[in-house]
Amino acid sequence: MHAFQFQTTPNVLSEVGSTAKIGEIMAKQGCKKVAFVTDKIILELGLAAAALDSLKAAGIDAHIIDDVVPDPPESMVLTAVEEAKAAGVDGVCSVGGGSSLDTAKLIAVLMNSDQPIGEMYGVGLVTGGRLPLVLAPTTAGTGSEVTPISIVTTGTNEKKGVVSPQLLPDWAILDAELTVGLPPAVTAATGIDAMVHAIEAYTSAHKKNILSDTLARQALELLGANIETACSDGKNREARSAMLLGSMLAGMAFANAPVAAVHALAYPLGGHFHVPHGLSNALVLPHVLEFNMPSAEGLYAEIGPLIFPELAGKSDSEIGQGMIDGFKSLGPKLGMQSTLAEVGVNHNQLPMLAEDAMKQTRLLVNNPREMTYDAALAIYTAALN
Ligand SMILES: NC(=O)c1ccc[n+]([C@@H]2O[C@H](COP(=O)([O-])OP(=O)(O)OC[C@H]3O[C@@H](n4cnc5c(N)ncnc54)[C@H](O)[C@@H]3O)[C@@H](O)[C@H]2O)c1
Ligand SMILES: [Fe+2]
Repeated sequence: MHAFQFQTTPNVLSEVGSTAKIGEIMAKQGCKKVAFVTDKIILELGLAAAALDSLKAAGIDAHIIDDVVPDPPESMVLTAVEEAKAAGVDGVCSVGGGSSLDTAKLIAVLMNSDQPIGEMYGVGLVTGGRLPLVLAPTTAGTGSEVTPISIVTTGTNEKKGVVSPQLLPDWAILDAELTVGLPPAVTAATGIDAMVHAIEAYTSAHKKNILSDTLARQALELLGANIETACSDGKNREARSAMLLGSMLAGMAFANAPVAAVHALAYPLGGHFHVPHGLSNALVLPHVLEFNMPSAEGLYAEIGPLIFPELAGKSDSEIGQGMIDGFKSLGPKLGMQSTLAEVGVNHNQLPMLAEDAMKQTRLLVNNPREMTYDAALAIYTAALN
């Protein structure tokens, strides 16, 4: 068995209603005034209320930063850091989707560091420490609460990642109640994102290991069995809990066995066209699976039946093809768009997308089959209509 390293968030609290314990948790970490990072929709829906009440009850001031938008731009992150510095916070807490959590993680490291954000993009480049950090996801998708990753959109519409262990929070708070009102379109997109995390972790070229494999398999069982119910019957708390748990397990897996070409080809769609992250993944997923098949068919055959139980007992190539077909029909079944044309991409823009995808070298090195510009262009072309 090959040597491996595994890191994750040290404390996980999974309990319905658990955001009401955030105040107590942050007080134990010595916090007196925290940056509370979220977005306006979350505040309006009242999803932050229990956490804010608990902070108040614990004698902690909350400085609310609610300017987060999807695919957080670097400029927004830097403005939020200035605001948090001016407020003099000594901790960071976030209740929100991946965009809020990723922003909170960067605020926590940038607060007590002079290192410019531009020097942090890449793997293992953050030099300082961070403030106490507690994260509660309101989507079941990114797994950001257990990953050492923040994704930011830079001035050139490129999505870049800061990947450093300092970004792992002290606590991940899983409160499925927060996801009960998640609209079907967001449930579908974020759920597919989580599935892609597990699939890409399982086929990751260099760092997959027995722990990431175990987590990815369990994640795919939970996500595969519950994504349709979570979309069609949002109030089904069993399905919501399973999705949130599945997304966290997938996050733990890909934090240690990194994602690859699906994400590399998805990011330019988010950067240029603001296609939601999970939908971007869903649009390229079947075509990347098809491209990877010659190198990863055996691994896909191991996980295909976990997602689509009807594939059990079939040959490796039948399972591979079954996964491609299964994902091609799952998107529309969940009400998602299924072609790049439907999200506003035209044929002339494909070379630009392929060029940008090839810049995601941090991700492409993990792909089971070597990606080239020509292959990326062919994948986008296949996904167009
Ligand atoms: N850090 C990581 O490891 C990691 C992994 C994958 C993706 N990402 C990044 O995360 C971001 C995407 O995050 P996301 O998919 O969670 O979405 P998001 O945070 O961008 O939110 C999408 C929309 O859903 C709304 N929303 C969120 N929770 C809701 C709820 N419970 N009810 C109603 N509306 C709700 C938000 O207000 C927003 O309008 C992207 O920038 C992506 O690149 C990060
Ligand atoms: Fe993702």
